[in-house]
Amino acid sequence: MSNNSEEQITQNVLDTMAQAPNPRLKEVMTSLISHLHTFIREVELTQEEWAQGIQFLTRTGHMCDDKRQEFILLSDITGFTMLVDAINHRLPDGATESTIFGPFYREGAQELPMGATISKDGRGEPVVVMGRVLSTDGSPIPNALLDVWETDENGLYEQQDPEQPDMNLRGKLRSDREGRYCFVGIKPVSYPIPDDGPVGQLLRALGRHPFRPAHIHLLISADGFVPVTTHLFVKGDAYLDSDAVFGTKDSLVVDFMRHDSTEEAARYHVPVPYYKVEYDFILKAR
Ligand code: BEZ
Ligand code: FE
Repeated sequence: MSNNSEEQITQNVLDTMAQAPNPRLKEVMTSLISHLHTFIREVELTQEEWAQGIQFLTRTGHMCDDKRQEFILLSDITGFTMLVDAINHRLPDGATESTIFGPFYREGAQELPMGATISKDGRGEPVVVMGRVLSTDGSPIPNALLDVWETDENGLYEQQDPEQPDMNLRGKLRSDREGRYCFVGIKPVSYPIPDDGPVGQLLRALGRHPFRPAHIHLLISADGFVPVTTHLFVKGDAYLDSDAVFGTKDSLVVDFMRHDSTEEAARYHVPVPYYKVEYDFILKAR
């Protein structure tokens, strides 16, 4: 152990963990240190680059408080978050795919009746979102809970925007006896993730943009089923192929169909033009 040469140092560090009482911690740290040492060797990291890395992580930590989690944002833009999500949500064929949760969920949204709007300020283009919640065997799931949230037409979530009413564009809906659900939201817009911190600096340094394709967030749960955190993305969005946080999945991209019939609009209590999306969510039994 006394010879900490370039050739010897990796094994020396790994040897110190031989007696680690927690086998999983030992496995994770052994792999992490091995890969980081390989990375340092591969790029021949300079002392200046090492110091820049430390300063970047320090700035990232300083940016964190109870409202802002810059480390999760860093995990998001490097694809770590979605890779962990993919590994932990290997679902049977046909089940609704999961995607990123994001930092803008708020507990305590109001439970709304079937067909109600989640907009409290009436801005944006209305969209009727409807369909069923089903089990992978095709049977309807009654009383499933759909907790939904989205930005306003300016691309800001209500907690980012003092102009919006509290809890704007958030709501909880229940499926009925046939598994049907329906709510009115607004046609989502693409928007930039928070890029005024070290993660934004990194994106710019890498020649990357901070935008996410337009989406509505949904967290769907039902007794006896595995909950799913997912999105509905707008087909045709310019950022579908370059989501800053790698959240896009083909199965979640849907047509937001424009409708101009006043008669139909009256049925949903929306003005014309309005948009309609039909999508069935499929949950896996526990
Ligand atoms: C979001 O979709 O709300 C989001 C996800 C990851 C990072 C920032 C925002
Ligand atoms: Fe979002």
